[in-house]
Amino acid sequence: MTVILGIETSCDETSIALVKDGREVLSNIVRTQHIHGKFGGVVPDISSREHAEFIDTVYYEAIDKSGIDINKIDAISVVNGPGLIGSLMTGLMFAKGLSLHYNKPFIPVNHVDAHIYANVLTHGNLNFPLLSLVASGGHTSLFIVNKEFKTELIGKTIDDAAGEAFDKCAKMLKLGYPGGPSIEKHSINGNTNFHRFPRAKIKNFDFSFSGLKTSVLYYLNDKDNDFINENLSHITASLQEAIVDQLINKVISASEEFNINILSLAGGVSANIRLRDKLKEYSIKTGKTLYVPKLCYCTDNAANVAGIGFMLYQKKGFGNMKTNVYSRK
Ligand code: KG4
Ligand code: ZN
Repeated sequence: MTVILGIETSCDETSIALVKDGREVLSNIVRTQHIHGKFGGVVPDISSREHAEFIDTVYYEAIDKSGIDINKIDAISVVNGPGLIGSLMTGLMFAKGLSLHYNKPFIPVNHVDAHIYANVLTHGNLNFPLLSLVASGGHTSLFIVNKEFKTELIGKTIDDAAGEAFDKCAKMLKLGYPGGPSIEKHSINGNTNFHRFPRAKIKNFDFSFSGLKTSVLYYLNDKDNDFINENLSHITASLQEAIVDQLINKVISASEEFNINILSLAGGVSANIRLRDKLKEYSIKTGKTLYVPKLCYCTDNAANVAGIGFMLYQKKGFGNMKTNVYSRK
C-alpha cells in the first residue's frame, strides 16, 4: 500500500488529501476562499495570505479524517504550477517543510495533469489515447493523452479561458464570483436561443472567448435593470450556450481530425451540466467513450494531486529543495 499526501494551493482553494494507491481517496479537504467574491475575481495577494493562514487547519483535518499516521505516508505531492506564484509558493514550502521534517520525498505535480487525473479517480482504468478538454478559470486546452499519461497540446485559448469568460460575464450581470456556478444556476429553464452570442470561428483547435465577453458587454449596455432581471434566465442560458458550443465544437472536430474516439472533460468548467449533457449526447450518438469526472474532482482539489502523485512516485519523479514554482507551462 502506498499513501500519498497531496497539496493544492494554485488559486483560491486550499486543499490537502490523502490517497491510497492512486485510487482510494481517504480524505480530501477543500477550503474555498470566499473572500474573493466581493472583488468579482481572485486577488492574488489575498489568496497567498489565506493559504498561509489556513493550510495548517486543512492539513490537520485531512490527516484526522484519513485515519493515517503521518509517519506512515510514502510521499508528499504538490502542485507547483501553473497557477498564482504566491499561492503556489505557500503549498510548495509547506510540502518542503513536511518532506524535511518527516524525511519523505516530495513530488512536484502539474496542475493541468492533476485535473485530467480526476477521470482516473472517477472511472479507474481508462482507455487511451484519449482526447481531453481541460477548461478552468486559468486554462482552456485540448490534449491528446497517451497511456503513460503524457500530454500533447493540440489547441488552447488565445485570450480568456472558458471559466474566465463565465466569471467576467457573471460580473457584468452582478452575479458574483465564481461566475460559472451562478450562471449555470440562473440558466435553468432559460431559453438558450433568446439571444445569439457569437461563437469564435478559429480554424485550428484554438479557442477564443474575448469576442463573446465584448458582445455581452455591448448587449447589456442598452438594457435596463428591469429587462435584465426579467430575462436573466434567458440571458444566462444564451451565453452559457455560446461558451459550451465553442468547447464542444472543438472537441468534436479534434476527435474527427485525430480519429480519437475516447473523450474526456476536466477542470472547473467540466462541472457544467449543460457541457456534460451535450457532450454525452454526442458521444452516445457516435458510439464514442466519454469520461467525465465526479463533480467533487472537477474544481481544484488535492485528491487529483495525490492521485497523479502516486503515478509519479512509481517513476521516482521526485523534487528537491531547489524545486520552484511557475505561473505558466
Ligand atoms: O479548475 P478550477 O477550480 O480552478 C482553476 O484552475 O482555474 O476552475 C474554476 C473555474 C471558475 O472560472 C469557475 O467559474 C468555473 O471553473 N466553474 C464553472 C462551474 N463550476 C466552476 N463553470 C461553469 N459551470 C460550472 N458549474
Ligand atoms: Zn484548476
